[in-house]
Amino acid sequence: MRRATPRRLSGLLILTILTSATACSPAAHAPQSSSSELPALDGAEFVGHAVCVACHTVESSHWETTIHARRFLHAPRTPLEARACESCHGPGSLHVAAPSDPGRIVSFTRESATPTAGMNAMCLQCHVGGERLHWHGSEHEAQGLACSDCHNPMAAQSPSGLLARESVNETCFQCHAEQRAALRLRGHMPIDEGSLDCADCHNPHGATSDALLRADDVNALCFECHADKRGPFLWDHAPVVESCLNCHRPHGSPHPNLLVSRPPFLCQQCHAQPGGFGHPNDLMVRGNLFGGVSPDERATNRSCLNCHGQIHGSNHPSGARFHR
Ligand code: HEC
Ligand code: HEC
Ligand code: HEC
Ligand code: HEC
Ligand code: HEC
Ligand code: HEC
Ligand code: HEC
Ligand code: HEC
Ligand code: HEC
Ligand code: HEC
Repeated sequence: MRRATPRRLSGLLILTILTSATACSPAAHAPQSSSSELPALDGAEFVGHAVCVACHTVESSHWETTIHARRFLHAPRTPLEARACESCHGPGSLHVAAPSDPGRIVSFTRESATPTAGMNAMCLQCHVGGERLHWHGSEHEAQGLACSDCHNPMAAQSPSGLLARESVNETCFQCHAEQRAALRLRGHMPIDEGSLDCADCHNPHGATSDALLRADDVNALCFECHADKRGPFLWDHAPVVESCLNCHRPHGSPHPNLLVSRPPFLCQQCHAQPGGFGHPNDLMVRGNLFGGVSPDERATNRSCLNCHGQIHGSNHPSGARFHR
């Protein structure tokens, strides 16, 4: 992670940033220019886009290909947008006077002297609410992430989203090596294949549920794409109703169908002695399946699922055992 020990602004400072900037109305951004946003910037004035471009030609030419530039330079809706570079970097006069003196303008990179909360507040001037409704207090905010850990607005490096890497998944893999490894397992969500990305299931900006899920709970999330598993079924299988993750892993698994383990072991975690609980013995004659050497052929291969095929629930009047 980029910022292990998040540097925080004092509450008062954040308040000043937000109150001085969230109001995107023209009045709030009339010629008034001094900034008490960050102590080091006290007294700084806006100098205008052209001044920045004069020295930062290369950065500017990359930036000009982005959605921000298209808006800020050609169709600004607010005076803040019209400030272009300075809408994110803040007023630049102190920096222009002493460019190699760090910390005299809002900066977003690793070496930046700007506290993380200060950087984020610059973006939130325009992007508060919506997807970011639950940013404050989210796991990522609490871990000290900056918007610029995942976004790089200085160039269009991803097809959309101004991401810091070429795709959503690569952006997340900067820090989530475990999930990257899971996706390399034999069975995995078709994420690398491009059908899905992390942000289909997670909102990296915050959510009301655990694990930043884009749904109230795990099952509600899975049903969004696997509606056939929702039921209602005449005969429910209790662990399915409780949580899909009783049997499946969300990212990847060495077993088929993203299962936590293979049948019969999967089933035996909960159904400990299938031979002895009234299982029809004639079906299991040689059925030393459960720990023995010569399983009944009806119990090999798909194992328990040879017979209990409707494992997610059954609508058949006599499907109480999920046979049909
Ligand atoms: C007179 C030339 C000049 C002008 C004008 C200028 N810069 Fe810079 N800027 C520099 C130099 C030189 C550096 C230091 C680069 C380095 O250390 O690699 C720098 C560094 C920066 C940094 C990093 C600062 C830090 O604290 O790490 C940012 C952000 C930046 N400039 C943005 C801007 C913006 C926005 C404007 C317009 C308001 C602007 N610059 C105008 C020359 C200039
Ligand atoms: C939408 C917000 C935004 C706008 C507008 C913007 N920048 Fe940036 N800028 C950033 C972010 C975020 C980074 C950090 C990117 C990264 O992580 O590498 C950055 C990085 C930079 C850097 C590298 C130094 C540093 O520490 O940040 C320079 C120089 C810079 N911008 C100059 C400019 C100039 C010049 C303009 C106008 C032509 C401009 N920026 C417009 C957000 C913005
Ligand atoms: C002055 C207002 C303003 C500021 C400050 C600002 N943005 Fe934006 N941002 C916009 C506008 C306008 C758009 C265009 C999309 C739209 O209409 O909503 C946009 C679009 C985006 C998008 C979507 C890109 C896409 O491909 O759809 C991302 C991501 C983004 N901004 C991130 C940031 C980050 C990160 C920062 C801070 C470094 C930032 N913005 C600062 C106004 C702003
Ligand atoms: C942990 C990574 C991460 C962090 C941190 C993050 N974002 Fe994002 N953001 C994403 C991803 C992923 C997308 C989706 C991009 C896509 O689908 O193309 C996105 C989309 C966006 C969009 C465009 C879609 C929309 O929501 O309107 C904006 C604007 C945006 N982010 C702003 C921000 C701002 C502002 C911050 C800081 C408060 C921030 N993001 C922090 C990963 C992140
Ligand atoms: C700069 C590092 C960084 C990046 C990039 C990043 N994360 Fe995280 N994320 C963390 C840290 C640190 C945690 C908390 C510790 C953990 O669970 O690993 C976390 C936690 C999470 C959690 C668990 C949240 C919880 O409440 O338990 C999810 C889900 C998550 N991240 C998804 C994503 C997604 C999706 C992306 C890409 C859009 C992403 N992260 C990008 C650092 C990052
Ligand atoms: C199909 C939906 C889905 C996709 C796609 C997905 N996740 Fe998850 N993720 C989940 C679920 C469900 C959980 C577990 C929630 C729980 O345990 O309550 C989870 C948990 C997590 C956690 C918390 C730690 C853990 O493993 O329990 C992290 C971090 C995470 N995901 C990151 C990612 C990243 C990075 C990607 C993209 C490579 C991604 N996820 C793609 C559904 C998904
Ligand atoms: C955003 C859509 C989406 C969500 C949400 C989603 N999935 Fe999937 N899932 C898919 C797609 C697409 C496939 C691939 C389907 C195919 O290949 O026919 C898939 C495949 C699967 C498979 C079969 C994997 C294999 O190896 O063949 C399982 C099992 C599965 N999902 C379980 C889950 C569970 C459990 C959840 C909730 C944690 C979930 N899915 C959430 C889209 C989703
Ligand atoms: C009791 C264990 C168990 C639970 C709980 C469970 N599944 Fe499954 N699931 C399985 C097994 C076993 C298979 C393999 C079925 C087969 O090979 O016919 C499977 C296969 C799947 C498949 C791929 C094949 C298909 O039928 O489409 C999807 C998708 C799936 N499950 C989604 C879910 C969802 C969504 C949930 C939560 C509502 C869930 N599962 C809960 C055991 C379970
Ligand atoms: C996480 C625990 C768990 C797992 C794993 C699990 N089950 Fe179940 N299963 C249950 C519970 C709880 C019931 C409901 C028992 C009851 O109502 O008395 C049940 C009911 C059943 C029933 C109906 C029996 C009855 O008495 O109504 C069958 C058949 C069954 N499971 C087969 C399987 C098979 C086959 C697998 C493996 C693919 C499996 N189960 C995996 C917990 C589990
Ligand atoms: C060859 C077919 C077959 C195989 C293989 C099989 N079962 Fe069954 N199972 C049945 C039949 C038939 C019943 C009884 C149905 C009835 O009485 O209505 C049954 C009943 C059950 C019951 C309910 C018992 C009760 O008390 O009512 C459970 C639980 C169960 N099986 C679990 C399993 C598990 C776990 C496996 C794998 C280890 C498995 N079965 C393999 C055919 C099979």
